[in-house]
Amino acid sequence: MNEIDIKNQICDICGKMWQLGWVAANDGNITVKLGNGLFLATPTGISKSFITPDKIVKINAKGEVLEGSQNSGLKPSSEIKMHLRCYEQREDVGAVVHAHPPTATGYAVANKALDGYTMIEAVIAIGSVPVTPYGTPSTYEVPEAITPYLQEHDVLLLQNHGALTVGADLITAFYRMETLELWAKISLNAHLLGGAVEISRENIDRLCNMRTQYGVTGKHPGYKKYPNGSS
Ligand code: 13P
Repeated sequence: MNEIDIKNQICDICGKMWQLGWVAANDGNITVKLGNGLFLATPTGISKSFITPDKIVKINAKGEVLEGSQNSGLKPSSEIKMHLRCYEQREDVGAVVHAHPPTATGYAVANKALDGYTMIEAVIAIGSVPVTPYGTPSTYEVPEAITPYLQEHDVLLLQNHGALTVGADLITAFYRMETLELWAKISLNAHLLGGAVEISRENIDRLCNMRTQYGVTGKHPGYKKYPNGSS
């Protein structure tokens, strides 16, 4: 994809996140890694429903603006330190999405991890999702809080805040946020119905090993423990 296509894709995903009700007002942010050590970032302080390609900011690995915003006054997301930490820690990460999908964020606010292996799609795609420690937005507290989890997880809940997903590309990171939110809704429904039933250890192993068959990329907190796993 060229840079124009990536900017258009960022805007498309921003619009979808707003329509899905994952972000209110100026909530949420997206970054994508370019091939040359540079990154595209959503601007701070603008509703994701109003983002257009000309508002996307290009930055370097220090978060310094290279073009676009110098003239228009736009700055990258205030959460850029959190995004850049994901790229620093994980060479395989090509995109980062942060949003506040309401059911998953409910778990983050309640400080409850989504760590039951109870729904097959979630077991295969993302595995357990921890709640990372509280951090004040925009500060280094947030990247410090998530760093210990990044080597094993592509999906994190941020305590009292929201959710963070990473992927090899933007669509993958977006799909992980979709999977998280749907799993959170299903988990809440199962809780109302008396509680989710855990999948057996044997079947969890079989599901984890299906990641290869489905071409799932990224990290999984249990997958590496399985003989046929590759991560
Ligand atoms: P930005 O507008 O700076 O990206 O911040 C939105 C947000 O969700 C902060 O957590």
